[in-house]
Amino acid sequence: MNKNGKKENSINQDKTPLLDTLLARAKRKVISFHTPGHKNGQGIDKKLASFTGRNLFSLDVTVFPEVDSLHDPTGPIRKAQTLMAKAYGVEQSFFLVNGSSVGNMSMIMSTCQPGESLIISRNTHKSTLAGIILSGVWPIWIQPSVDQNLDIIFDATPEQVEKTLKEFPEAKAVLVTSPTYNGVTTNLKKIADICHARGKLLLVDEAWGAHLKFHEDLPSSAIDAGADLVVQSTHKMLPVMSQGSVLHFNSKLINLNRVRNIVSMLQTTSPNYFTLATIDLARKQMVAEGEKIFEKLLRLIDRARAQINHFKNFSTFTRAEIQGKGFDLDVTKITVNVTRSGYSGHHISEILARDYNIQVDAADLFNIIAICGVGTTRKDLDALVRALAEIDKKERGDQQNWVLTIPSLSTELVMNPRDVFLLYRSKRVPLRKAVGHISAQALTPYPPGIPVLIPGERITSEIIEYLEKLVERAVRVSGQEAEALKSVKVVALH
Ligand SMILES: Cc1ncc(COP(=O)(O)O)c(C=O)c1O
Repeated sequence: MNKNGKKENSINQDKTPLLDTLLARAKRKVISFHTPGHKNGQGIDKKLASFTGRNLFSLDVTVFPEVDSLHDPTGPIRKAQTLMAKAYGVEQSFFLVNGSSVGNMSMIMSTCQPGESLIISRNTHKSTLAGIILSGVWPIWIQPSVDQNLDIIFDATPEQVEKTLKEFPEAKAVLVTSPTYNGVTTNLKKIADICHARGKLLLVDEAWGAHLKFHEDLPSSAIDAGADLVVQSTHKMLPVMSQGSVLHFNSKLINLNRVRNIVSMLQTTSPNYFTLATIDLARKQMVAEGEKIFEKLLRLIDRARAQINHFKNFSTFTRAEIQGKGFDLDVTKITVNVTRSGYSGHHISEILARDYNIQVDAADLFNIIAICGVGTTRKDLDALVRALAEIDKKERGDQQNWVLTIPSLSTELVMNPRDVFLLYRSKRVPLRKAVGHISAQALTPYPPGIPVLIPGERITSEIIEYLEKLVERAVRVSGQEAEALKSVKVVALH
C-alpha cells in the first residue's frame, strides 16, 4: 500500500534484478576483455584500491546481453525499471545516470516543440535553462515569492499558475519545482487539476523528493498529485550513488516513445552500472523498510529541530509554520537561519567544517542547509546540535542584517534563447554599455539564485544598476566568467 492507501505492488518488490545480475557476474570472476579499462578493478592503482578494495569495481561493467542495455533494455535493467514504476505507481520509469539535470532537459524536450511556450518559475534549476535552449521553447516566467522572515523563496502557487495560464492560454506545459532546496512543497494536486482542466501538461522537478512517497508524515509526492512527468534525484535523498536519478512517466497526454527517445538521446552510452544497481537496491529497500526508516528519522529530526529552536542565535522553521503559509514542508531538510548570530550562513558552515568536522549541504547569507537522508543517524544529528550549541554560546559576528530580496526587474524576452545560443555570435561589452543590447548569457546572483538575465532578454538600465550594486557588495553572480562582473556577453547582431 502507498500512503494514500492504494495498492501498488502486486509484484514482488524484494527482487533486485540488476544488482543480482552484477553480483553473480562479479562472483564468477569473469575475465574482462571489455571496458572499463580498470578490468574488474585489477588495474586500479593501490593508492585507491587499498582503501576501497577491488570488488566495487567489478560491478562497473559495460553493455553486454547479460547485464542489459540502458538504451534498449530487455533484461535486468528493464525488470528493475518495471519494479521502480510499480513501486511509485507510474506507467514507466526511466533510470538516469546524469542526475535530474538530464531529467529536466528530457521533460522539456519531450513535451515542447520549438516555438511553443512553457510556464516555469524563475527560481528554476539551471538544467531547465539548458532544456529551454535545447528545445527552442519560449519560457513564460512566474516570479517566485520571498519570505523575508524566514529568508527563503517559495515556488509557484496554484493561484500564480492559474493566473499565468489565463494570461498565456497558448502555453503547452507548466514546470514546477517541488520540494524546493529548503524542502518546501507547493500544492501540486491543485496545480495538476488547474493544468489538466485546460489540457496542459504538468512537469515536476522533484529532484529533492524521491523519498516523499514512503512516509505519511512527508508532503504528498508529485506522482500522487497527478503530474505527467516527474524527475527525482534518487541520489539526493536515498542511498544511491551520485547522478543516479529517475524520470517517471504517468501521462495520457504525452507520447511515451518520444520521452524514451529523448532520454536515450541525452544519456551516455556507457552508464555506470554500479550507480544503476544502487537505484535498483534503493527501491527495494524503500518499499520494504522506507516507512520504518523514515518513522525513526522523522522523530530524530523533530527532536533536533526543537533543540535548535531553543538557541539564542539560530532557528529552524517547522512544518506547522510553513503549512500556515499555504505550503508544506519536508522536514528532512533542516534550514537553520543564522542571521541573529551576526554571521553569514557561509561563515557558520566554515566553522562547522573546520572545528567540528561537519559538512552541511549548502549555505547562503542567511542560512545553512543540513540535508538528512536514509543514512542519517542519531549520533550525526546530536553532533550537529552540539556544535551549533557551542557556536551559539561562543561566537558573535558583526555582520549587518541583510534582507533577502528579489529585485522587481521587468524582463523582456525579445529573442528565443535557443536562437541566441545557436544562431548568433556574441561579444562582451562593459556593464554600462550593455543597456539596450540583448543578453547572450544567463546571470544569476546567489542569493537569491534567480536569474537576472537569460539569453534573449533585453538589457535595461534598471538591470545594469542592479548588477552594479551586486558588484559593489561582492555578491557572487553565476555566469560572470571572471573574477569580477565587469562585462556582459551580448548578441552581436551585426
Ligand atoms: C531543484 C533541482 N533540480 C534539479 C537539480 C539537478 O539535479 P542533479 O544534481 O541530480 O542533476 C538540482 C540540483 O541540486 C536541484 O536542486
